[in-house]
Amino acid sequence: MGQVALQASRPVREDSEVPTAAYDELPDGLLVVSAGGEVLALNRAGARLLGVEPEQAVGRHVGDVLGLSDDRGHDWWAASAKLRKLPGVTRTPEQRLVLSGPSGERELMVTSRYVRQEGTLVRLVVAFRDTEARERAERGRADLVSTVAHELRSPLTSVKGFTATLLAKWDRFNDEQKKIMLQTVNADADRVTRLISELLDVSRIDSGRLELHRQVVDLGAAVKRVFAGRVATGEPPERFHLQVDGDLPEMWLDPDKMDQVLANLVENALRHGAGTVTVHVHGTGAGAEVTVSDEGEGIPSEIRKRIFAKFWRGQPRRGGTGLGLYITRGIVAAHGGSITVGRADGGGAQFRFSLPAGTPAFL
Ligand SMILES: Nc1ncnc2c1ncn2[C@@H]1O[C@H](COP(=O)(O)OP(=O)(O)OP(=O)(O)O)[C@@H](O)[C@H]1O
Ligand SMILES: [Mg+2]
Repeated sequence: MGQVALQASRPVREDSEVPTAAYDELPDGLLVVSAGGEVLALNRAGARLLGVEPEQAVGRHVGDVLGLSDDRGHDWWAASAKLRKLPGVTRTPEQRLVLSGPSGERELMVTSRYVRQEGTLVRLVVAFRDTEARERAERGRADLVSTVAHELRSPLTSVKGFTATLLAKWDRFNDEQKKIMLQTVNADADRVTRLISELLDVSRIDSGRLELHRQVVDLGAAVKRVFAGRVATGEPPERFHLQVDGDLPEMWLDPDKMDQVLANLVENALRHGAGTVTVHVHGTGAGAEVTVSDEGEGIPSEIRKRIFAKFWRGQPRRGGTGLGLYITRGIVAAHGGSITVGRADGGGAQFRFSLPAGTPAFL
């Protein structure tokens, strides 16, 4: 195995004593340079980033292959000459450097390791990667911050507006008017609280920290509870239909999170769909398959891929922040299941998720 890897990985100068295994499989660029500045090895990812053939790079001076400079325009190799001579320096922290090449300039994140024997530099191992992926992630975070700020601002503007008006003109309003204002403030405060708890869920999902507290969950009973909650807030009971069939095993799920999934899908069916909301729980022996269907306009196939994305909302806007389905998918996935959307028999939207039976947490 070691032999094969050694033969397969090129180009490495045979007398260079450079350990060679798996160079070419590294996702980041890797360059090995002698103390004198001769390129001893360059892996495939590195060659791709630098726009050279690995074979052409080996044997050349590092300055000709890796034309890097810092943000003040200082040549990287020349500027680090002092560090190479200092016996105590064994590595440099990650640095953002500019690479000048035939196709213009681009930024690379660069780290070097100085391999020494009794303080004398033997070789340098330089790892480098494109900043693009990192910048894309940073842009994503910036978008998230601006969306969140925007979502928080509108309810808070209303809270501030109504409380300021009430405080300044208390005597000019009758009890009925004051009550309406306070109800609005109350509802907007609920919106902020809900948004914050959704954001915490999103952050747990994104970082893989969504914890499940598994118990035996009766899915039929959970659906009935969600329906009852909606009936209590004024929906007619005839709008809801539940069917449970098949071979339903004992399901070990997180009860609160399952309620959240069911409540989100039923809420969507009511808010974005129309007609009767049907939940079908089907036992498959190894788990359950649940569908939530409505009789609304459904979701066109070209946007079905997008609806699970963070903050994605369709037109027309009907309140909501567009986090419901993102969280729903995250919770289902944390249980080892998956969720898809399709078309219900009557033409409405149909969400279908599968859940394995799961095992007790203490096993
Ligand atoms: N049953 C449905 N019928 C038609 N469109 C739907 C249905 N469920 C979801 N959608 C579309 O998918 C979008 C995303 O849904 P999601 O639940 O993620 O966000 P939301 O309901 O808009 O807001 P939130 O759930 O965060 O309050 C909705 O805005 C809507 O356009
Ligand atoms: Mg929703």
